[in-house]
Amino acid sequence: MILVGPFQIILTYSILFYSILFYSILFYSYNSFKVLCLMAWFSLEIQFPSLTPLPHLAGTKENLHLAQQVQAEWKEFGLDSVQLVHYDVLLSYPDDTKPNYISIIDEHGNEIFNTSLSEPPPPGYETVRDVVPPYSAFSAQGMPEGELVYVNYGRTEDFFKLEREMGINCTGKIVIARYGKIFRGNKVKNAELAGAKGVILYSDPADYCAPGVDPYPNGWNLPGGGAQRGNVLNLNGAGDPLTPGYPAKEYTYRLDKASGVGLPKIPVHPIGYHDAELLLRKVKMHIHSNNEVRRIYNVIGTIRGTVEPDRYVILGGHRDSWVFGGIDPQSGAAVVHEIVRSFGKLKRKGWRPRRTVIFASWDAEEFGLLGSTEWAEENAKVLQARGVAYINADSSIEGNYTLRVDCTPLMYRLVYSLTKEIPSPDEGFEGKSLYESWYKKNPSSEYKEVPRINKLGSGNDFEVFFQRLGIASGRARYSKNLVKKYSSYPVYHTVYETYEIVERFYDPTFKNHLTVAQVRGGLVFELANSVVLPFDGRDYASAVSNYAHIIYNLSRNHEEELATYNVSFDALFSAVENFTEVAASFHDRLQQIDTNNVLAVRSLNDQLMLLERAFIDPLGLPGRPFYRHVIFAPSSHNKYAGESFPGIYDAMFDIKNKADQHEAWEEVKKQISIAAFTVQAAAETLKEVA
Ligand SMILES: *[C@@H]1O[C@H](CO)[C@@H](O)[C@H](O)[C@H]1NC(C)=O
Ligand SMILES: *[C@@H]1O[C@H](CO)[C@@H](O)[C@H](O)[C@H]1NC(C)=O
Ligand SMILES: *[C@@H]1O[C@H](CO)[C@@H](O)[C@H](O)[C@H]1NC(C)=O
Ligand SMILES: *[C@@H]1O[C@H](CO)[C@@H](O)[C@H](O)[C@H]1NC(C)=O
Ligand SMILES: *[C@@H]1O[C@H](CO)[C@@H](O)[C@H](O)[C@H]1NC(C)=O
Ligand SMILES: *[C@@H]1O[C@H](CO)[C@@H](O)[C@H](O)[C@H]1NC(C)=O
Ligand SMILES: [Zn+2]
Repeated sequence: MILVGPFQIILTYSILFYSILFYSILFYSYNSFKVLCLMAWFSLEIQFPSLTPLPHLAGTKENLHLAQQVQAEWKEFGLDSVQLVHYDVLLSYPDDTKPNYISIIDEHGNEIFNTSLSEPPPPGYETVRDVVPPYSAFSAQGMPEGELVYVNYGRTEDFFKLEREMGINCTGKIVIARYGKIFRGNKVKNAELAGAKGVILYSDPADYCAPGVDPYPNGWNLPGGGAQRGNVLNLNGAGDPLTPGYPAKEYTYRLDKASGVGLPKIPVHPIGYHDAELLLRKVKMHIHSNNEVRRIYNVIGTIRGTVEPDRYVILGGHRDSWVFGGIDPQSGAAVVHEIVRSFGKLKRKGWRPRRTVIFASWDAEEFGLLGSTEWAEENAKVLQARGVAYINADSSIEGNYTLRVDCTPLMYRLVYSLTKEIPSPDEGFEGKSLYESWYKKNPSSEYKEVPRINKLGSGNDFEVFFQRLGIASGRARYSKNLVKKYSSYPVYHTVYETYEIVERFYDPTFKNHLTVAQVRGGLVFELANSVVLPFDGRDYASAVSNYAHIIYNLSRNHEEELATYNVSFDALFSAVENFTEVAASFHDRLQQIDTNNVLAVRSLNDQLMLLERAFIDPLGLPGRPFYRHVIFAPSSHNKYAGESFPGIYDAMFDIKNKADQHEAWEEVKKQISIAAFTVQAAAETLKEVA
């Protein structure tokens, strides 16, 4: 943060804000524990807004009611406007009359064992109706029958091993894959490509039970009867499967249901480890879920900026949940709610942000990021012109170990300076900053002296803002010790994600929620209120330089082909060097800026705002028109993970097994040139205007 000289006033404001934010959240979290902060969680003390006692599945009336409650509260908090914005999108639900299950059949076709139709309810929730049974949303219908093949995690490398090393052919088989490591939609796509006619997904205790921890309700492990719900789409950023690229409004042209984007062609179903243990070699799937168009609702609230009302900072997180959503998303939605309350309080005291702040409660995130994507599609022109930053706010916690941040390199410094101002909630770090405990627990491996920040991938609502529109984005939550990187917390997307599991095991005093609120709220505040945008192009330059070296190093596994096909990374390194120089001189100029010169400030801020946009290729990445960021994309093998220089990476992936080597290396050369051009073009945008 640049907080010198003329920025004193901002600093004072920011301290005021932090203390108010701290105060309000502390106040609500601790002083009047159940009545106030936790009104976001508790329905018993106060009926509103009851985030977790009932299921809030997208497309149901309960989730519309919650949207209306959030709208009413945000109005009461004092936002300038709060609207419900609806779309009619393709969703997927089990058939009430024909349950989904998998059976073992004997030689006469008798179903001698059936998997469970539902999860045993957690204590206190036995009478709740409308708990959707575990299912894989958007599965194809069907009743395939056949031999079962175990495909480990169902990753690209797992199928390579099966096919290339073990000589196992999945064509015509039903495959069973354990959850974890990668996004489930990638598992299904890999299985489909391998010729499978059905996919069973199960949660293995090795991935979903920590040693020495009891299953819920005595501990936070997954019970054997729990099964992870989730969508199995491969949308690649398209949003509603029937209206790719356009908002799903009443007038919008729709593809027919059979040809929606990203729909799997084979039946898929999730089961728990008790059932998985019993599945034998020959099984039959019974999948009858239906895809249907239903209405979803985003809540959009705004506070108009004073000085630059036409510049937007967005804080968004989803509201829909598979069942109770105790962690996902309500631990995040409660934090958004408190941040809105804090901004409302500041506004009541006569304050307004410099830029406009937009708060969003997204619907149908669980069905493929639909609410956020449709809204961004509807407002794409305005967002491209005015979007400064997007901060994502899904689950605040997925563990209780330390902070986890994924963001654009533009925000690194902001995140570091902010976390230095926030007290650490961790035991043993009393009186120390969040930065210190975070650094101690998870230092960066590349830049040793700072805490680790990850690349943005996808699997959450920032996707359209960052990967399609090129709006600087970031997300933060409290996480576990990330040794097993991409396996979620044990009860993820099961009926056991309750308010009580959070209160009893994850964050009994809600101190980690408070910390995450301070990070998310602090980011929004700084982005909306700093005179000079707290972005740093020099950090982008060093990140891009690092990624260029990584991809170049990867190419050196093919020295011979590089020579044969005359493949050179020189242009990319030249562009990176240029970008580095231009970014350095840009920030030199920025440091000398006369902040009273309104036009000069606005002009430099626009260069900062539009830097992320400059990495967007309007043509998109090969085969993925809605992933348009040339530096980052969701990995083609795991939607959750970010990949750097994805065009080059994908062109080189498994290249030695491609039939036409000449053609394959021509594609690599094309992708290197696109990367070089894009980095150079971004550098041009930061140059001093002649
Ligand atoms: C499995 O379900 C089918 C259909 O409801 C039923 O006919 C069959 O008897 C069940 N098998 C077992 C072992 O419960
Ligand atoms: C797998 O089996 C199918 C048909 O059974 C066949 O068409 C395909 O070529 C086989 N794949 C491999 C890699 O052997
Ligand atoms: C919370 O932290 C303690 C102490 O590190 C740890 O033993 C426990 O497993 C953590 N709880 C969860 C739910 O991760
Ligand atoms: C690339 O490889 C060189 C030589 O092996 C090594 O020194 C360098 O650290 C590597 N760079 C990255 C970013 O991996
Ligand atoms: C190899 O590529 C470079 C540009 O990268 C070009 O200048 C040179 O002529 C090419 N050489 C051959 C043999 O194609
Ligand atoms: C980098 O800048 C130099 C000097 O202006 C220029 O000659 C070169 O073409 C630039 N590199 C690229 C990839 O455009
Ligand atoms: Zn979520």
